[in-house]
Amino acid sequence: MKNGLIVSKIKNGTVIDHIPAGRALAVLNILGIKGNEGNRVALVMNVESSKIGKKDIVKIEERELNQREVELIALIAPSATINIIRNYEVVEKRKLNLPEKIEGILKCPNPACITNNDVEARSRFIVISKSPLVLKCDYCETTLTEDEVLRQILL
Ligand code: CTP
Ligand code: ZN
Repeated sequence: MKNGLIVSKIKNGTVIDHIPAGRALAVLNILGIKGNEGNRVALVMNVESSKIGKKDIVKIEERELNQREVELIALIAPSATINIIRNYEVVEKRKLNLPEKIEGILKCPNPACITNNDVEARSRFIVISKSPLVLKCDYCETTLTEDEVLRQILL
Protein backbone atom coordinates (compact mmCIF):
# COMPACT_ATOMS: atom_id res chain seq x y z
CA MET A 1 0.00 0.00 0.00
CA LYS A 2 1.36 3.41 -0.99
CA ASN A 3 0.81 5.20 2.33
CA GLY A 4 1.62 2.24 4.55
CA LEU A 5 -0.77 0.23 6.65
CA ILE A 6 -3.20 2.17 8.81
CA VAL A 7 -4.02 -0.87 10.89
CA SER A 8 -1.83 -3.90 11.36
CA LYS A 9 -2.27 -7.22 9.65
CA ILE A 10 -4.41 -9.75 11.44
CA LYS A 11 -3.42 -13.26 12.47
CA ASN A 12 -6.63 -15.22 11.89
CA GLY A 13 -9.98 -14.06 10.61
CA THR A 14 -11.52 -12.18 7.71
CA VAL A 15 -10.58 -9.01 5.87
CA ILE A 16 -13.29 -7.43 3.75
CA ASP A 17 -11.41 -5.15 1.38
CA HIS A 18 -12.46 -2.81 -1.47
CA ILE A 19 -15.75 -1.83 0.17
CA PRO A 20 -17.13 1.33 -1.51
CA ALA A 21 -16.23 4.28 0.73
CA GLY A 22 -18.85 4.99 3.36
CA ARG A 23 -20.32 1.49 3.53
CA ALA A 24 -18.17 -0.10 6.23
CA LEU A 25 -20.82 0.54 8.87
CA ALA A 26 -23.46 -1.21 6.78
CA VAL A 27 -21.08 -4.18 6.47
CA LEU A 28 -20.65 -4.25 10.26
CA ASN A 29 -24.41 -4.20 10.61
CA ILE A 30 -24.83 -7.13 8.23
CA LEU A 31 -22.35 -9.06 10.33
CA GLY A 32 -24.20 -8.09 13.52
CA ILE A 33 -21.01 -6.67 15.00
CA LYS A 34 -21.75 -4.32 17.89
CA GLY A 35 -18.24 -4.10 19.28
CA ASN A 36 -18.93 -5.90 22.54
CA GLU A 37 -18.12 -9.37 21.24
CA GLY A 38 -14.56 -9.30 22.54
CA ASN A 39 -12.68 -10.10 19.33
CA ARG A 40 -10.63 -7.40 17.65
CA VAL A 41 -12.27 -5.50 14.81
CA ALA A 42 -10.60 -2.81 12.70
CA LEU A 43 -12.48 -0.33 10.60
CA VAL A 44 -10.71 1.72 7.94
CA MET A 45 -12.71 4.34 6.12
CA ASN A 46 -12.05 6.53 3.10
CA VAL A 47 -8.57 5.35 2.20
CA GLU A 48 -7.22 5.60 -1.34
CA SER A 49 -7.66 2.55 -3.52
CA SER A 50 -5.99 1.99 -6.86
CA LYS A 51 -9.09 0.10 -8.01
CA ILE A 52 -12.13 2.02 -6.83
CA GLY A 53 -11.12 5.58 -5.84
CA LYS A 54 -11.76 5.57 -2.13
CA LYS A 55 -12.56 2.47 -0.15
CA ASP A 56 -13.35 1.13 3.28
CA ILE A 57 -11.87 -2.00 4.86
CA VAL A 58 -13.21 -4.15 7.70
CA LYS A 59 -10.91 -6.60 9.50
CA ILE A 60 -12.36 -9.06 11.97
CA GLU A 61 -10.26 -11.43 13.99
CA GLU A 62 -11.43 -14.97 14.74
CA ARG A 63 -14.49 -14.82 12.54
CA GLU A 64 -15.52 -16.37 9.22
CA LEU A 65 -18.63 -15.36 7.29
CA ASN A 66 -21.62 -17.47 6.41
CA GLN A 67 -23.31 -17.60 3.01
CA ARG A 68 -26.15 -15.26 3.98
CA GLU A 69 -23.70 -12.63 5.22
CA VAL A 70 -21.68 -12.91 2.02
CA GLU A 71 -24.82 -12.45 -0.12
CA LEU A 72 -25.85 -9.38 1.81
CA ILE A 73 -22.40 -7.84 1.48
CA ALA A 74 -22.60 -8.53 -2.27
CA LEU A 75 -25.76 -6.43 -2.40
CA ILE A 76 -24.30 -3.27 -0.94
CA ALA A 77 -20.60 -3.73 -1.73
CA PRO A 78 -20.28 -5.79 -4.93
CA SER A 79 -16.71 -4.60 -5.45
CA ALA A 80 -15.58 -6.03 -2.10
CA THR A 81 -13.14 -8.91 -1.78
CA ILE A 82 -13.34 -11.31 1.13
CA ASN A 83 -9.95 -12.50 2.32
CA ILE A 84 -9.70 -15.41 4.73
CA ILE A 85 -6.58 -15.08 6.87
CA ARG A 86 -4.88 -17.95 8.65
CA ASN A 87 -1.62 -17.47 10.51
CA TYR A 88 -1.13 -14.05 8.85
CA GLU A 89 -1.47 -15.42 5.32
CA VAL A 90 -4.32 -14.82 2.87
CA VAL A 91 -5.44 -18.42 2.31
CA GLU A 92 -8.54 -17.61 0.27
CA LYS A 93 -9.70 -14.56 -1.69
CA ARG A 94 -13.35 -14.54 -2.66
CA LYS A 95 -14.96 -12.21 -5.15
CA LEU A 96 -18.60 -11.47 -4.57
CA ASN A 97 -21.45 -12.55 -6.77
CA LEU A 98 -24.75 -10.82 -6.57
CA PRO A 99 -27.41 -13.49 -6.18
CA GLU A 100 -30.40 -13.44 -8.56
CA LYS A 101 -32.85 -13.61 -5.68
CA ILE A 102 -32.70 -12.32 -2.13
CA GLU A 103 -34.91 -14.29 0.21
CA GLY A 104 -36.03 -13.61 3.73
CA ILE A 105 -33.76 -10.72 4.51
CA LEU A 106 -35.23 -7.49 3.18
CA LYS A 107 -38.69 -6.15 3.88
CA CYS A 108 -41.12 -5.22 1.14
CA PRO A 109 -42.03 -1.51 1.45
CA ASN A 110 -45.64 -2.21 0.44
CA PRO A 111 -47.71 -2.60 3.64
CA ALA A 112 -50.37 -4.54 1.70
CA CYS A 113 -47.82 -7.07 0.38
CA ILE A 114 -48.54 -10.64 1.44
CA THR A 115 -45.02 -10.87 2.90
CA ASN A 116 -46.00 -8.20 5.45
CA ASN A 117 -49.31 -9.83 6.34
CA ASP A 118 -48.83 -13.59 6.41
CA VAL A 119 -46.47 -14.79 9.14
CA GLU A 120 -45.62 -17.83 7.03
CA ALA A 121 -44.55 -15.78 3.99
CA ARG A 122 -40.88 -15.01 3.42
CA SER A 123 -39.90 -11.93 1.47
CA ARG A 124 -38.37 -12.57 -1.93
CA PHE A 125 -36.79 -9.99 -4.21
CA ILE A 126 -35.52 -10.43 -7.74
CA VAL A 127 -32.46 -8.43 -8.79
CA ILE A 128 -33.51 -6.44 -11.86
CA SER A 129 -30.48 -4.16 -12.03
CA LYS A 130 -27.07 -4.53 -10.44
CA SER A 131 -25.75 -1.01 -10.88
CA PRO A 132 -27.56 0.96 -9.62
CA LEU A 133 -29.09 -1.78 -7.53
CA VAL A 134 -32.81 -2.27 -8.11
CA LEU A 135 -34.79 -5.15 -6.62
CA LYS A 136 -38.39 -6.13 -7.27
CA CYS A 137 -40.68 -7.91 -4.82
CA ASP A 138 -41.55 -11.27 -6.33
CA TYR A 139 -45.07 -11.06 -4.88
CA CYS A 140 -46.31 -7.51 -5.42
CA GLU A 141 -43.68 -6.13 -7.82
CA THR A 142 -42.87 -3.15 -5.60
CA THR A 143 -39.32 -2.00 -6.35
CA LEU A 144 -36.59 -1.44 -3.80
CA THR A 145 -33.76 0.95 -4.67
CA GLU A 146 -30.16 0.82 -3.48
CA ASP A 147 -30.82 3.65 -1.00
CA GLU A 148 -33.76 1.77 0.49
CA VAL A 149 -31.72 -1.41 0.77
CA LEU A 150 -28.95 0.50 2.56
CA ARG A 151 -31.47 2.15 4.85
CA GLN A 152 -32.96 -1.22 5.80
CA ILE A 153 -29.54 -2.68 6.46
CA LEU A 154 -28.47 0.30 8.56
CA LEU A 155 -31.56 0.13 10.78
N1 CTP B 1 -4.41 -8.45 5.36
C1 CTP B 1 -4.46 -8.36 6.75
N2 CTP B 1 -3.80 -9.28 7.53
C2 CTP B 1 -3.08 -10.26 6.96
C3 CTP B 1 -3.02 -10.37 5.55
C4 CTP B 1 -3.70 -9.44 4.76
O1 CTP B 1 -5.11 -7.47 7.29
N3 CTP B 1 -2.45 -11.10 7.76
C5 CTP B 1 -5.18 -7.50 4.54
C6 CTP B 1 -4.33 -6.61 3.66
O2 CTP B 1 -3.92 -5.45 4.37
C7 CTP B 1 -5.28 -6.28 2.53
C8 CTP B 1 -6.15 -7.53 2.42
O3 CTP B 1 -5.99 -8.23 3.66
O4 CTP B 1 -6.13 -5.19 2.90
C9 CTP B 1 -5.75 -8.41 1.28
O5 CTP B 1 -4.40 -8.76 1.39
P1 CTP B 1 -3.49 -9.06 0.11
O6 CTP B 1 -4.17 -10.06 -0.75
O7 CTP B 1 -2.12 -9.36 0.59
O8 CTP B 1 -3.47 -7.62 -0.56
P2 CTP B 1 -3.61 -7.21 -2.11
O9 CTP B 1 -2.74 -8.08 -2.93
O10 CTP B 1 -3.42 -5.74 -2.15
O11 CTP B 1 -5.14 -7.58 -2.33
P3 CTP B 1 -6.02 -7.28 -3.65
O12 CTP B 1 -5.33 -7.88 -4.81
O13 CTP B 1 -7.32 -7.97 -3.31
O14 CTP B 1 -6.17 -5.79 -3.73
ZN1 ZN C 1 -44.12 -7.06 -1.88
